[in-house]
Amino acid sequence: MSNLSFQNITSLPKTLLSFYWKYGFVNQKSLLFLWMLVVLLSFAGGIVWPNFNRWIVALFENPVPEGVSFIRYAMPTILVITFLNLSMTVSSLIRDAVGAKLWVNVENYISEILTAYTHNQSMIFWVNKMAGSINTQINYIISGLVDAFSQLWRAVGNLMIICVNGLLLFNINKYVCGLFVLSLGFRIWYAYNMRKRVKKAGEEASGAYSALSGKLIDSFSNHMIVKLFAGVTKEQKILQKPRQKRIQTRLYSRYTMRVFWALPGVLWDLLFGLTILFCCVLYQRGQITISEIIYTISVFLEVMSSVGMLINQLPEIIDKTAAANKAYKDLVIPLDIIDKENAKVLHVKRGKIQFNNIYFKYRNKYILKNLSLTINPGERVGIVGSSGAGKTTLVNLLMRFYEPQRGNITIDDFDITDVTQHSLRENISFIPQEPTMFNRTISENISYGKFNASFKEIKDAAKKASADKFIMDTEKGYDSLVGDRGIKLSGGQKQRIAIARAFLKNAPILVLDEATSALDSETEIAIQKSFDKLSRGRTTIAIAHRLSTLRNMDRIIVIDKGVVVEQGTHNSLLRKKGLYFKLWQMQSGGFLPENKK
Ligand SMILES: Nc1ncnc2c1ncn2[C@@H]1O[C@H](COP(=O)(O)OP(=O)(O)OP(=O)(O)O)[C@@H](O)[C@H]1O
Ligand SMILES: [Mg+2]
Repeated sequence: MSNLSFQNITSLPKTLLSFYWKYGFVNQKSLLFLWMLVVLLSFAGGIVWPNFNRWIVALFENPVPEGVSFIRYAMPTILVITFLNLSMTVSSLIRDAVGAKLWVNVENYISEILTAYTHNQSMIFWVNKMAGSINTQINYIISGLVDAFSQLWRAVGNLMIICVNGLLLFNINKYVCGLFVLSLGFRIWYAYNMRKRVKKAGEEASGAYSALSGKLIDSFSNHMIVKLFAGVTKEQKILQKPRQKRIQTRLYSRYTMRVFWALPGVLWDLLFGLTILFCCVLYQRGQITISEIIYTISVFLEVMSSVGMLINQLPEIIDKTAAANKAYKDLVIPLDIIDKENAKVLHVKRGKIQFNNIYFKYRNKYILKNLSLTINPGERVGIVGSSGAGKTTLVNLLMRFYEPQRGNITIDDFDITDVTQHSLRENISFIPQEPTMFNRTISENISYGKFNASFKEIKDAAKKASADKFIMDTEKGYDSLVGDRGIKLSGGQKQRIAIARAFLKNAPILVLDEATSALDSETEIAIQKSFDKLSRGRTTIAIAHRLSTLRNMDRIIVIDKGVVVEQGTHNSLLRKKGLYFKLWQMQSGGFLPENKK
C-alpha cells in the first residue's frame, strides 16, 4: 500500500467481524481456500484409522483363500494403508507450509492497517491512551483472527470426524451411537451455558493485561524520575494493584476454562466403560465379530478425542475472540477529526492567518474565549503570556490537533476545516515546545522534514540550526542513534535537531513554540540569525517566555486568560506600560543583555 493510501485510513468497520471480513484476507483468498482444503484433508485420518484397525484384524480373522500365500493376500491391504498414510502426511506438510505463509501475511496486513489508523487518530486519543496498551490491543485483534480462525477451522475438521464417525457408529451399533448422541447433546448444552462466563472471564483477563502493559510501559518510560526519587519500591507498589488484578482475572479465566471441560471428561470415561460392556454383551450373543469390536472401539476413541479437542478449542476460540472484540472496541474508536469528503488541498500563496472568535475548552473550563487575531501575509508575530495562558493551545488549534468549540481559523481565507489535514500540516513548519525524536539516526530524524532530502540538504539544514558541529562530534556523526525519544541528546541538541527538521521542511508558515528556550544565549543568537533569514517573507508565529527573543518581531501579541490583552511592537508595548511592560521588567530586560543585541 502506498504512503498516501495509509494516510487515508480514517474509518474502519464498526464491528470486529466486519473488520476481519473486509481486511482479513486481502489478496490471500486463494491461499486461504487451499489451506482450508488441506486442513480438512489432514483430518481424514480420524475417519480412516478405525478402518485400518478393522482391516488389519480382519486379515487375521478371516480365512486365507486356497492356493494364495498369506503375504500375497495381505499385500493389497498393506499397500492401501501405506498409500493413505503417505497422502495424509503429505497433506499435513502442505497444510503447515501454506498456513505459515497465509497467517504471516494476514498478521502483517492487519497490523499495517491498525497502525495506520491509530496514527491517524487525533490528539485527544493520544492524550487519553497509553502507548503501551495500543500494541497489546493490536496483538489481541491479530490473534483474534489468526489464532481463533485457524482453531475454528480445526474445530470444523473435528466436527467432520464426529459426524462421519457418528454415522458409521450408528451402522454398527445403534445403542452405542444412542449413548454417544445423548452425551454429545449434554456437552453442547453445557458448552452453551458456560459460554457467557468463559467469554466474560476472557474479556476481563485481557482488559487487565492491557491495563498492566500500559502502566508498565509508562513506568519504564519515566525511568529517570524513578531513579531521581528512588522510586523502584514505589513503582512496584503502584504496579501491585494492576498486577493483582491481572493475576485474579487470569486465574479466574483459566479456572472457568478448566471447569468448562472437566465435568464432561468424567462423563466420557463412564461412557467408554459402557461401550466396552455393550460390545461384550453383543459378543456373548454372537452378534459381533472381533474386527467389528476393534472398529467400534477405534471409532469411539476417535470421536472421543475429536470431541475432547473440540471442547478444548471452543473456550479458546471464545476467549480469543472476546479479547479481540474488547481490544477492537477500545482501540478502533471513530476519529474525531476527519477531512471533509470534498476537502481541498491547501496551497498557501500569501500566508494570511485569521483566528475568528475562537472559543476552546479541553474539558469544562474555556482556555480561549472569543479570541480573534489576524496575522498578515509574511508578518512575524510573537506571542507572549504567562504559563498556562493558552499559547500552545492556540497553535494546536492552527495545526488542527484539536477543534475549537466555536469560531474558525482561516489560512488565505480558506477555513482550515475545508482543507485536508495533510496539506494543512505540510504548509506549516512547526517546532513544538517539547520536541521528540525517533530512536533512529540523527540524519533520519532531520530528514523527517523532507523524506527524499539529499545528505547535503540535511547537513545544510543542520548547519543553519547550529547543529552540525555537535552532530559531527558524536561517534557516528549523522548516523548516530539518538536513543529512545532522543534520550542520548541534550535538551538544546534536541531543539536544534527539531529546528533543522523545520528548516529542511521549508514550509510557507513557520510556528515556533519555545523553539530556542533550551539554548545558551550564544547559540540562540546564531540560530536567531538563521531564523531571521528563514522567516523573511514567511508568516511566522513565535511563542517565547524569554521576551528578548521576540524584540525584533513585527508585532507582539500578549495573551492572558484566553484573550488578547495587548498587541503592538516591542517599543510601543513598553510605552503602554501594561502587562508586557511588567513582564519585561520582571525579566530585567530579557535574558539577553542590551549590549549583545
Ligand atoms: N490535553 C489537555 N487536556 C486538558 N487540559 C489541557 C490540555 N492541554 C493543556 N491543557 C490546559 O490548558 C491550559 C493552557 O495550556 P497551554 O499549553 O496552551 O498553555 P501555554 O500558554 O502554552 O503555557 P506554557 O507557557 O507553560 O507552555 C492549561 O491550563 C493546561 O493545563
Ligand atoms: Mg506552551
